[in-house]
Amino acid sequence: MAYLAGSLFGVGSDTTAVAIMVVVMASACYPKAQEKVQEELDVVISRDRGKSNIVIHLSEISTLLQLPHSTTTTPPADEAFMLECLRWRPMTTLGFTHRALTDIPYIRFSNTCIPEGAIVFGNHWAISRDPSVYPNPDQFDPQRWLNTDGKIRDDLKFPSFGFGRRICPGQHIANRSIFINAALLLWSFKITQDPENPIDESGFVDGVIVHPKPFAACFEPRFGNEAALRGVMGKYGEGL
Ligand code: HEM
Repeated sequence: MAYLAGSLFGVGSDTTAVAIMVVVMASACYPKAQEKVQEELDVVISRDRGKSNIVIHLSEISTLLQLPHSTTTTPPADEAFMLECLRWRPMTTLGFTHRALTDIPYIRFSNTCIPEGAIVFGNHWAISRDPSVYPNPDQFDPQRWLNTDGKIRDDLKFPSFGFGRRICPGQHIANRSIFINAALLLWSFKITQDPENPIDESGFVDGVIVHPKPFAACFEPRFGNEAALRGVMGKYGEGL
C-alpha cells in the first residue's frame, strides 16, 4: 500500500511541477498568448475581485474547467495554452518503454517489422516536432489547438500521457492541476521576462522527466497590490 501511494506521489508531483514551470516559461516568453488567456479569465473571474478582496470560489474554477467544452461565448484560450505547453516542452521527452506483444508491420517503411518482444520508445519529442501534424512545431502557438469556432479541436492530439494499457492513470488529476494553477497564476499576475536575465527557451536538463534549468521571471500583480492579492488567495477555497 505504501509503495502504491508513494508511486503516485513520485510520478505525479515532479511531472506536474515541471508542467507548471513550463506554463510560467511560456507565459513570460509569449506575452500575446498570455494576454489571450487573461482576457478569457477576466470574463469568468472579474478583475474587480482583486480590488474588492472577495474570495474566489472553487465553483468559479469549476466553471473554468468546463469552459473549453461548454462555452459558446468565450474562447477556450486556457486549455489551448495548457495543451500547447504540454506539446511544446514535453515533460517526458522519450516517453516510457513499451514492449511489442507480437510482430508489428511498420507501415510507414516497407519491409520493416517491429519484432515481438522488442523494446519500443514512443519518442514524445520527435512526435511533438512532426510538422505534418503540428505545422511550424518549434513555435509556441496555442491557436493550433482551436478550430474555426474557437473551440478545442477534436482531431488534434498529443500523447503527453503516453499510450496504450499503461497510459498515465493520473492524467485527469494532472490536467486539472495544471489548469487550476495556470488559471490562478495568470489571473493574478502578468508574467514577464527579466530583461537582465533573458530566458533560454531550450534550457532544460536531460532526464526521464525533463526539468527546465533555473530561469528568472517577473510576477507583477494584475490589479491592486501584492497585499490585496494575498488577501484574495489567502481565503481561496474558504466557505465551501
Ligand atoms: C504533467 C503531468 C504528468 C505527465 C506528463 C505524465 C506522463 C506519464 C507518462 C508519459 C507515463 C507513461 C505512459 C506510457 O507507458 O506510455 C505515465 C505513467 C504513469 N503516471 Fe503519469 N504523468 C503526469 C502526472 C501524473 C500524476 C499526477 C499521477 C498520479 C496522481 C501519475 C501517475 C502515473 C502512474 C502510476 C504511471 C504508471 C502507469 C503504469 O505503468 O501502468 N502521473 N505518466
